[in-house]
Amino acid sequence: MMRSLTRTLAGVLAALFSAGLAWRLLCRRFNLPMPPWIARLGLSRAADLFAETRGTLTRIGALPGERVLDAGAGPGRLTLPLVRAVGSAGEVVAVDVRPEMIRELRHTVYESGLSNVVMYEADLRKPLDDARGFDRVVLAATLGEIPDRDAVIGHLVDVLRPGGVLSVTELFTNPNYVPYRTIQRLCIRRGLVLEEERRSWVGYTANFCRPARTHVASADMFSRTVTEKSATANTETDPE
Ligand SMILES: C[S@@+](CC[C@H](N)C(=O)[O-])C[C@H]1O[C@@H](n2cnc3c(N)ncnc32)[C@H](O)[C@@H]1O
Repeated sequence: MMRSLTRTLAGVLAALFSAGLAWRLLCRRFNLPMPPWIARLGLSRAADLFAETRGTLTRIGALPGERVLDAGAGPGRLTLPLVRAVGSAGEVVAVDVRPEMIRELRHTVYESGLSNVVMYEADLRKPLDDARGFDRVVLAATLGEIPDRDAVIGHLVDVLRPGGVLSVTELFTNPNYVPYRTIQRLCIRRGLVLEEERRSWVGYTANFCRPARTHVASADMFSRTVTEKSATANTETDPE
């Protein structure tokens, strides 16, 4: 009796592990988006454990009065705490490419009664035309779902004010996890400067600063040179 129970348990664990591994490989191969029901789990209290939401917010470091862009906001795991962090003098703009995520997010925000948040559909692969001058751009567990990562970082740098911060968080629990060295390479190539990188058992948050006005010209020149070079090479390979 005990032996067959142990065997069944081992079988279930092995099946779960194989399914998890297969899902992770498929995600990495095809940049599969996270299913909405899993993203929704991020709003639960359990998320604080498997995604360490509170710790992530501390590492992101949003301050009262700031204008923050939550890029790839999903159903709002970080959006609402960010709105609380910036307070009534600040503002959060939350964008996501999937209409169902924006719908969820609107619902969550409505239920919370918070008001200083703007939400709309936007694809990070394209320039965010109407958005400019953010103090902080938050990109959490999103880049791995998008094949053209260099373009995404470029568009996000464009909407930062000089001196603003691009805060990238990646979670080991996310099948589309992007390693730190890839983020670092993409950000430095766009003229950003590492301010702080902090790790925890669930992943890492790296904050990169867009240099202040005097240095922006050279950063732009640098990124233009890289863009021209990559246009010639016509490839952006990501050796993960
Ligand atoms: C794993 S969820 C992370 C959500 C949230 N940032 C968090 O940390 O809980 C990734 C989100 O990125 C969004 N996303 C994927 N590709 C995108 C794109 N090209 N433009 C904007 N959002 C995108 C997905 O729709 C999804 O909501």
